[in-house]
Amino acid sequence: MSKIPVWMDCDTGTDDAVAIMLASYLDELDLLGISTACGNTIQENAYWNTHRINRLIGTNYPVYRGAEKPLIVPLVTGAHIHGENGLGDVDLPLPEHPVVQKESAWDALYACAKAHPHALRLVATAPLTNIAIAFTKYPELPALLHSVNLMGGSAGVGNITPAAEYNMYVDPQAADIVFRSGAKIYMFGLDVTLQACLSMEDVDELEASGKPAGIFTKACLMHSWPVLSKFGETGFCMHDSCPVMYLAYPELFEGEEAGVVVETRGTITNGKTVTDIYSDKQFPFSNAMVMLKLDRERFISILKTAIMNV
Ligand code: BDR
Ligand code: CA
Repeated sequence: MSKIPVWMDCDTGTDDAVAIMLASYLDELDLLGISTACGNTIQENAYWNTHRINRLIGTNYPVYRGAEKPLIVPLVTGAHIHGENGLGDVDLPLPEHPVVQKESAWDALYACAKAHPHALRLVATAPLTNIAIAFTKYPELPALLHSVNLMGGSAGVGNITPAAEYNMYVDPQAADIVFRSGAKIYMFGLDVTLQACLSMEDVDELEASGKPAGIFTKACLMHSWPVLSKFGETGFCMHDSCPVMYLAYPELFEGEEAGVVVETRGTITNGKTVTDIYSDKQFPFSNAMVMLKLDRERFISILKTAIMNV
């Protein structure tokens, strides 16, 4: 059976790192390249962190630099969760000879989509700056992709603000461009990703496996524990693994087609993905499959196996 061609755009990032491990582990997927976004950490860190993950898991995925800042608004990093270096301040070594690609994130993504017309799955686990630049520079790109599986947004609550999810809040103008692009969008927002959490027992098990990726995963996630426990969280949500997992195991997820619009001007609601799922009056269009439910037990079991065997 032929593998599914995949491109990832990540702000690597603790849960982005785990999502890359998962994409690498899943036999069904052929990860062709990774572009890096600013978000959880600055572009420079996200770029080199991705090389560090390549070394950790013994892969050579080509890594492409993306934008240094969001389209219009200043960057708000996630250092309180992901640490100053983006990987929970864990010191992970670089490959001895990291390959530096000359192409930009958007040019490399476009070239890859052209090489795999209507087949390439774009997995975006970061603010959508790079994707918006790519869609603006290459207007034919949205239709050239098979689909965009993005981690971001929420039909319900926010996390960085009461209304907005972090990836959408960091670059709402970019998110707006992507949701209006006509691409086939699968939205893995907080509605579903808050169900995708590793418990403390799970991360202990990863560490106890003695596998480098398992030890690293617990160490980098523990950085966020003081903040998470203060807010009453009981585990670590693997937001970014959801859109990756879906490609190989769609049956673990349930969603609804909906209209989604990104708020770009609200003073309290900036970056909110407004969906018509729960309203009486519907938008006159449907532009995304909004994921709502997850088979947590199977998801976590596959994810742990992946981290311990990647
Ligand atoms: C999203 O924001 C980042 O902190 C995570 O990596 C994930 O992509 C969750 O809101
Ligand atoms: Ca991310």
